[in-house]
Amino acid sequence: MRTIPVSAENTYQIEVDVDWRTSLVDWTEGRSNVLIICSENFPVDTEFPTIQIPDGESGKTVSTLQNLWQKFAEHQIGRDDLIVAIGGGAITDVTGFAAATWLRGIDWIAIPTSLAGMVDASIGGKTGINSDAGKNLIGSFHSPKAVLIDTTWLETLTPRDTAAGLAEVIKCGFIQDLQILDLLRSKKLLDVINDNQLLVELIFRAASVKAEVVSQDFRESFKREILNYGHTLGHAIEKHSKYQLRHGEAISIGLCFAAELSQIKNGLSPHLVALHYEILESMGLPTRYPASAWTELELLMNSDKKNRVGQLRFVGLTATGECNRIENPNSKELFMAYERIAL
Ligand SMILES: NC(=O)c1ccc[n+]([C@@H]2O[C@H](COP(=O)([O-])OP(=O)(O)OC[C@H]3O[C@@H](n4cnc5c(N)ncnc54)[C@H](O)[C@@H]3O)[C@@H](O)[C@H]2O)c1
Repeated sequence: MRTIPVSAENTYQIEVDVDWRTSLVDWTEGRSNVLIICSENFPVDTEFPTIQIPDGESGKTVSTLQNLWQKFAEHQIGRDDLIVAIGGGAITDVTGFAAATWLRGIDWIAIPTSLAGMVDASIGGKTGINSDAGKNLIGSFHSPKAVLIDTTWLETLTPRDTAAGLAEVIKCGFIQDLQILDLLRSKKLLDVINDNQLLVELIFRAASVKAEVVSQDFRESFKREILNYGHTLGHAIEKHSKYQLRHGEAISIGLCFAAELSQIKNGLSPHLVALHYEILESMGLPTRYPASAWTELELLMNSDKKNRVGQLRFVGLTATGECNRIENPNSKELFMAYERIAL
């Protein structure tokens, strides 16, 4: 087992490469009630009472929350009890929010089962649901007591979902941890899927990047913004594709766009820009998007909640591991960057 410390409202640890059942035992001792929340599509067999909820974005709703609050009442969940979320990022997001709101905040543990959940969604304390106004607009910061990462879950993940999770891992390589890029260079997706030791190392490194960034900037000012590298266009592409593309697939295209924009605005070296395409494509991720989508994507980027005070802003790279903020690039510069990734 390897551990990563996170300091948020409280200090807790991400335990990497554990057997989740064994690790969970320590957290359940002395609690009268432990309630497991998992997905209807991906049920988990445990000795504790278990509630299954709808999965994915369709599960991040007020009605799921109402159902969870009802179940918490039925199970008489009190302040000393424990909620355990087992699933992808959607399950940990909605369960964490239910834990944040029950009795004004009770303890919960995140056991992510998707790669995206292990390196991103379960870390950082953000919990929440979707609404008609948009994704993740309702939520709260409520960190788990621990994140337990057991890579045996990944054996049932589809190659497409593994690749989507790797997009966030690769992002961490470009913004902070060069070694991630070295580990992935000249590898193919199947090499990664079939090499558990490599997967553990990649998860440890990417989770460490996120943990370090959120520990320095829990409530999100500039430092935490570097995690949004590739996300300004990525979010717009995700919406434009009507969520047909996985989050990580949209981010992969967004990363190439951010690299091209960084070349235009920061003089990022052509070699580093090319490395984005090389590594992402070798993991089977998309790096290009139709030219005809640009007008709509520009509108979508301008309406994104992350682009505060009406300013369109991007995280850029000046070198590997060095980020800056690119504020209000003009339409010509944006289009020039988009043309380079357009199909
Ligand atoms: N809180 C945060 O900081 C944060 C950060 C990033 C993303 N998110 C959220 O995370 C969600 C995306 O997470 P995700 O990519 O894990 O998607 P997801 O939770 O929608 O899961 C994707 C699919 O994978 C399945 N699945 C999960 N684990 C599996 C496994 N081991 N084997 C087989 N199938 C498995 C799920 O049942 C689901 O159908 C989004 O809702 C996003 O908003 C939150």
